Amino acid sequence: MTKIYYFSGTGNSFWTAKKIMQSICEINHSDKCRLFNIGVEEQNEKILIEANTVVLVFPCYAYGMPLAVKRFVKKAVFKTPYVVSLVTFGSNPRGTLGALKRILDKKEIHKLFFALIPSVENYTAMFGSPKPELIKRRLQLQEETTKDAAVDIIERNENTVSTFTPFSSMVSGLFSLGVKIFYKHYKLSDKCDGCGICGQICPVSAITMKEKRPVFSSKCEHCQGCVNICPLRAIQFGRVKFGSPGYCRPGVQIEDLSGNLHNNQCFN
Ligand SMILES: Cc1cc2nc3c(=O)[nH]c(=O)nc-3n(C[C@H](O)[C@H](O)[C@H](O)COP(=O)(O)O)c2cc1C
Repeated sequence: MTKIYYFSGTGNSFWTAKKIMQSICEINHSDKCRLFNIGVEEQNEKILIEANTVVLVFPCYAYGMPLAVKRFVKKAVFKTPYVVSLVTFGSNPRGTLGALKRILDKKEIHKLFFALIPSVENYTAMFGSPKPELIKRRLQLQEETTKDAAVDIIERNENTVSTFTPFSSMVSGLFSLGVKIFYKHYKLSDKCDGCGICGQICPVSAITMKEKRPVFSSKCEHCQGCVNICPLRAIQFGRVKFGSPGYCRPGVQIEDLSGNLHNNQCFN
């Protein structure tokens, strides 16, 4: 059994997780593969992961790990010989994999494999909307590196990364402080029609609807899913202007990101 755990705001990590699952199933028909949403799993009091292979796929946030992913990996008991970690990123992930390795090193896992998956930058609040040519190039890179990672996983390859990442740890530490208050600073335009899609796709269920308006809670991971995927572009944060183009991984649907649906996907 291969268990693939993903965390995804705008679909890049979900896309890679699903591709990895399809590649494994195509090559090894006797292996069962399941996809799990880390945002859902992380809420369990105890997490026991028994599998032949465990794959973690998540985005880099401020040179580090999303907080929900960090809590999940720390809490999890791994009964598996092989853990693969794949980080999707927009421009430079710096010490993200090193931060994860520091946690995994405390668990008894024999074989580890790490890879970076270049993807489209989704932090539109800081960098603005990505340009179409850049999106095209990054999608191609994501496809190629995901394919390579699938081969590495099937061949059960191992590698390592440096855990000495002082600058990244500092930046990521500051980001974790920011995340505690960012949820108070989302703005809503009058265009919001209360469709509730922002709440459905939120990977950590941080948005509830009150009187047909989204209310953001401190569970928010700042994944930018709601800002980018709102069909009316009515949610704003930072540089994002109401109505400016948002980003969602082509090939990923809103239903794919409605996290709770995915824990029962079983292939083979
Ligand atoms: C809050 C936040 C911080 C980010 N920080 C970084 C970063 O430090 N380096 C980087 O290369 N990409 C960064 N990104 C970009 C994402 O890692 C990248 O777009 C990722 O593929 C998004 O994955 P998803 O679509 O599965 O949510 C950041 C994105 C967000 C929302």
